Amino acid sequence: MRRKVIAGNWKMNMTPSQAKALIEETKPLVAGKDNCDIIFCVPFVDIYAAKEAAKGSNIKIGAENVHFAQKGAYTGEISAEMLKECGVEYVIVGHSERRQYFGETDETVNLRTKAALEAGMTVLLCLGEVKDERLNGITDEVVSMQTKLALKDITAEQLKNVIIAYEPVWAIGTGLTATPEQADETCGVIRNTIKSLYGEKAAEEIIIQYGGSMNASNAKELLAKENVDGGLIGGASLKAKDFSIIVDAAQ
Ligand code: PGA
Repeated sequence: MRRKVIAGNWKMNMTPSQAKALIEETKPLVAGKDNCDIIFCVPFVDIYAAKEAAKGSNIKIGAENVHFAQKGAYTGEISAEMLKECGVEYVIVGHSERRQYFGETDETVNLRTKAALEAGMTVLLCLGEVKDERLNGITDEVVSMQTKLALKDITAEQLKNVIIAYEPVWAIGTGLTATPEQADETCGVIRNTIKSLYGEKAAEEIIIQYGGSMNASNAKELLAKENVDGGLIGGASLKAKDFSIIVDAAQ
């Protein structure tokens, strides 16, 4: 049995004081729900406040991106070592908004993944097809290729610290959700790709989340699917009650 992982992706929302308030509100609602891992990936400037607020609880704190260089002339970027020292255990890499709006490519996604793994963090590696790709029937090829390119030169040992988030781009922030069957099928394609790269055991063990308008009302059905091991949740992670209902669905 794979452990479920429920992660919030706050995106560019929440000031430090709002972060503190949201975590304080969420903590009692998810207390004792230890059958899944619970993570909030927060803006860099919220990390300190979020870590403080989450102390002593079952909520872990992650970041939303990481640069691939160790240090240097990369104005505005944040390195893995910086995150590590702030106590960050998880980091999102390759989110479709980074790919769409900030020029991230499969290559930079691979480099960032490597940098985070080398620093000892767990990566939430995001991938997924755009609407046209689904309509043209090439979803399987797209996610399989993205998986292979993102994991280039990553060892089987390092893969143990990778969680894949399958996020169909057309479902992110749109209110459209993949059906549980679509989510299960495409997470299965990713699992098969892992099998071809790393073998049966790694494929059985890797955690594959679904993301894209997962919410309090659809989480249970999605999380019931064999290949769906959790969720990466944007909008609904900004509401304590909704997020806690998703955590309940993963118990
Ligand atoms: P959403 O975002 O839940 O708001 O669709 C998911 C994500 O972008 O990770």
